[in-house]
Amino acid sequence: MYRKRPRKTLGALAGSMMSLAVRIDHAVLMRCQMKLRDLHRRLTVLRYGLEYDGSEDDIFIVTYPKSGTTWLQMIVYQLTTDGEMNFAHIEDVSPFLEIAMIPRGQKIQDLPATPRVVKSHLSYHEIPKGPGRYIYGVRNGLDVGVSYHYHARKYLPGLGNSTNEFFGRFAAGGVPYGSWFDHVSGWLRNKDHLNVLVVTYEELSADLESAVKRIADFCGITIDPAAMPRILERCSFAFMREHDEKFSFERMRPKPPAAPETAFIRQGKVGGWREELDPRAVSEFQEACDRQLRDFGEDMFRVLSGRGGREGKPASPPPPAGGLSPAGQPGGASHRGA
Ligand code: A3P
Repeated sequence: MYRKRPRKTLGALAGSMMSLAVRIDHAVLMRCQMKLRDLHRRLTVLRYGLEYDGSEDDIFIVTYPKSGTTWLQMIVYQLTTDGEMNFAHIEDVSPFLEIAMIPRGQKIQDLPATPRVVKSHLSYHEIPKGPGRYIYGVRNGLDVGVSYHYHARKYLPGLGNSTNEFFGRFAAGGVPYGSWFDHVSGWLRNKDHLNVLVVTYEELSADLESAVKRIADFCGITIDPAAMPRILERCSFAFMREHDEKFSFERMRPKPPAAPETAFIRQGKVGGWREELDPRAVSEFQEACDRQLRDFGEDMFRVLSGRGGREGKPASPPPPAGGLSPAGQPGGASHRGA
């Protein structure tokens, strides 16, 4: 009895060691598999970029996720078409480069519309380079992190239950598309190497009309003054929220969303982070902004770090005088498919 005990203990120890080794093996294999997958993705993206035969007319809308990408897509759609809303989803008119096009080998050159408009969250180094126009949208990182949490709660469960838990991951770059700091500084540092227009969410929010004119100028588009009320109304938060199904992510992730109650066009506010984030997380994030985002001018630095912009004000200006209902139409045209 006395002698058997060490043998039993040794046996149990060996068993635990074996299962630990199997678990470690499994974890190492999983990590290798993830790294290989990521490497494959990067190589595919880079090869796609090398094969891209760009045109000056091509328009890229590029952002870090949750920075107002869809808003920019809608503005460009309104500027480049009659704005009829006769699409099932905004991705039909400005497809998602790395999710919808690259994996299917669909070339930008093959898109039927002129100008060809694509949306992407790729980093400056990964984006296909050409003579076209690149609209880079940025938003203060605190609102990006909060907005990303609501998106993740719905479509990417497992990345953090509370806003603050998720925000910690986001600030450390542990979310899809990685570090917000790297994305923003990569694009801002290299913007003169391509034909880039930088647009902030905060400026769209403060003065949509001026921002729309700036985007139109950059795209070489002359806006018919009669079309401006329609453009402003359809790019308003109220209108886009009313047509949430045309903008939401469900098409990308056909699985039922984990938190279906949150609309994609959710809050549309500058400074919403104040109601959500721990003061300590905010000051750590702003210290990281101090260290990493000082090179891009005081105004940009203030916006990015959440120290500027129209804090707390509603995102969209009130409808123009003479009033259009949120879903209304100037000139009584119809909303086909809306
Ligand atoms: P919130 O979650 O803070 O409301 P993206 O398109 O990059 O995923 O960004 C989504 C964010 O842009 C969401 O922010 C959404 O509400 C906001 N947004 C989209 N259209 C908008 C509009 N017309 N006005 C204001 N904000 C808008």
